[in-house]
Amino acid sequence: MFSELENKVVVITGSGSGIGKAMAEVFGKEKAKVVLNYRSESHMKELDALQETIQKSGGDSITVQADVSVEEDVKRLVETAVKEFGTIDIMINNAGFEKATPSHEMSMAEWQKVLDINLTGAFIGSREAVKQFLKEDKKGIIINTSSVHDTIPWPNYVNYAASKGGLKLMMETMSMEYAQHGIRINNISPGAVVTEHTKEKFSDPKTRAETLEMIPAREIGDAKDVANGALFLASNLASYVHGTTLYVDGGMMNYPAFMGGKG
Ligand code: BGC
Repeated sequence: MFSELENKVVVITGSGSGIGKAMAEVFGKEKAKVVLNYRSESHMKELDALQETIQKSGGDSITVQADVSVEEDVKRLVETAVKEFGTIDIMINNAGFEKATPSHEMSMAEWQKVLDINLTGAFIGSREAVKQFLKEDKKGIIINTSSVHDTIPWPNYVNYAASKGGLKLMMETMSMEYAQHGIRINNISPGAVVTEHTKEKFSDPKTRAETLEMIPAREIGDAKDVANGALFLASNLASYVHGTTLYVDGGMMNYPAFMGGKG
């Protein structure tokens, strides 16, 4: 579909499952060289299968274990990509974590964990990618997986909403800083999407009905919908797209409570 992505080196953090895995599949189909990443061994089986799928599609891949919240791990991840494939063209900071806790009961450890993975992890990944792009004088691309909760407040998820709100300004700031070098930095913000992580909550009829009420399109998204958005942002079609957020959310950002035409 996008021949310019053939042989491009794409690092995707958190690609053992969910949106990251769907991204790895679509980039594999474009015959990219995909650097898969996981934190915990529990995703090893999926990753082996994913490597096979990518290879079958004509792409190439390697798998690197790294915890995005650990600076040395992210450095090693980018270094390995460069060592194995000679360069890095696209960095996708996708790894994320969420867990509900009322704000007044949230421990510092719970607060910090989410900030470390979702915000600091994306910062380290962006910084290391930019360093490499500048070194090679390359018009590299960075895409961060954010959320509709970079804008919509989310009770019981204060750490998550704060991390994604921060991710929005982090992306905008870094884009402003490096756009002059031809480096494109954007976010992709999913709404409610079915993944291994959300499957359970969306299979509960009450939660599902409540969620659908918040989506003008009246359907829960698929990880593939988000992956396709990332493909667009990485393609030449988006060559003038800098410092913006692509919401893939069935219209969730668009005040669905007003759908009835009242107010
Ligand atoms: C979260 C999902 C949630 C969606 C809409 C996403 O950022 O990861 O769990 O369903 O936002 O609230």
